[in-house]
Amino acid sequence: MRVLVIGSGGREHVIAWKIAQSAVVEKVYCVPGNPGIAQIADCRSIRLENNFAELADFAETEKIDLTIVGPELPLANGLVDVFLERGLRAFGPNRKAAILEASKDFAKQLMIDNNIPTAAHRTFDSPDAAVAYLKGINTPVFVKADGLAAGKGAISGRTQDEAISAVEQIMVHRAFGSAGNKVVIEELLVGEEASFTVLTDGVHCIPLVSSQDHKPALDGDRGKNTGGMGAYSPAPAITPEIHSQVMNTVVYPTIRAMREAGRPFRGVLYVGLMIDGSEVKVLEFNCRLGDPEAQVLLPRMESDLVPLLNACVDGGLDEISVEWKPGAAVCVVMASGGYPDAYESGKAITGLEAANSLEGVTVFHAGTQSDSGRIVTNGGRVLGVTALASDVSEAISRAYLGVAEIHFDAAHFRKDIGHRVLGRDS
Ligand code: AMP
Ligand code: GLY
Repeated sequence: MRVLVIGSGGREHVIAWKIAQSAVVEKVYCVPGNPGIAQIADCRSIRLENNFAELADFAETEKIDLTIVGPELPLANGLVDVFLERGLRAFGPNRKAAILEASKDFAKQLMIDNNIPTAAHRTFDSPDAAVAYLKGINTPVFVKADGLAAGKGAISGRTQDEAISAVEQIMVHRAFGSAGNKVVIEELLVGEEASFTVLTDGVHCIPLVSSQDHKPALDGDRGKNTGGMGAYSPAPAITPEIHSQVMNTVVYPTIRAMREAGRPFRGVLYVGLMIDGSEVKVLEFNCRLGDPEAQVLLPRMESDLVPLLNACVDGGLDEISVEWKPGAAVCVVMASGGYPDAYESGKAITGLEAANSLEGVTVFHAGTQSDSGRIVTNGGRVLGVTALASDVSEAISRAYLGVAEIHFDAAHFRKDIGHRVLGRDS
């Protein structure tokens, strides 16, 4: 098969890396890719935005058998719809199904209508009404832009002032553009977070192993929320009991509700969970693999990924099973100093080969670029240093040995990735 991966981040690097190992794949392409992906795939710089027809022309010309869409934006904008209309096979939800991530208000309403456990909320389409509501309550909240905001649109409002300022940032100053046409204000949940990821053909589901990311920028889970500063798998918060509860009270009801709403969901359903004792609530749905969670999930997968993706596209996922490697994986993200706020790019990166040659370590590229034979930084999250080992503790040690080999000016990484798991052991 000839497979095309869409995207340019760490998630797309690990997808291309896993696909390149498939027994049934002859060639991997990536649009636009990055220098790490270019070592294993044929990367082409075709513009993605408002350009799906040209992309479909490319897939036709190159006789691509399967296109895998990594990020949420092209899914929400209907890339899969354009490909399917042209008879091209594409993995991921279509536009009508991707709304589960693209509108938090839609997701909340679907959960309420189907008794899927989630935080109580109110949606507002005017800042005045949102502020008036906040003045009438005196409890900590989370304020969220309704639309897509690269993982940064959820702002904690522990005090009334903080919450009002979050509404202003989102709806008045338009920190996330038109994603802030509406805000969702929800009760603050407490507990432990975990990511629950399933593959689905719209009817059947295969859960992947559990994982957990670290969203805040700084050690001790302080600082602003980012797209994710690191991840580990498995996440011990997902016990076998919680696993069944999530499948029965969240995953199957959601897949059924989407089908019944005329929006059958095929692809990856990512459920962000808050777990408090035996109580589980949904924080968010995503319509694609998590990033950096993908960098710990796919390296742990023993099975060939491609037959699983084919079954999501064509149906028949109930006839396939998936095998996992024993042990654990940890990914430490190395970011540009300043991220998620302003940062500089173009810093030379050294030590990639040394890190990659360490036992169990693979470095996935995100914001990198080639520049006169060197690899330089080109984004907020630059690299994901992933390690496989027999347990989380050993995987943490290996990942940080990898990080220690890599240098670029003003590199920032968290030093406590996986700390919650270590806390449990001791
Ligand atoms: P979201 O994009 O909705 O997943 O929110 C991003 C992050 O904000 C989550 O991973 C949580 O850490 C935090 N968060 C979101 N909603 C809540 C909530 N209702 N209570 C507590 N934390 C939340
Ligand atoms: N790491 C969280 C996400 O991909 O949404």
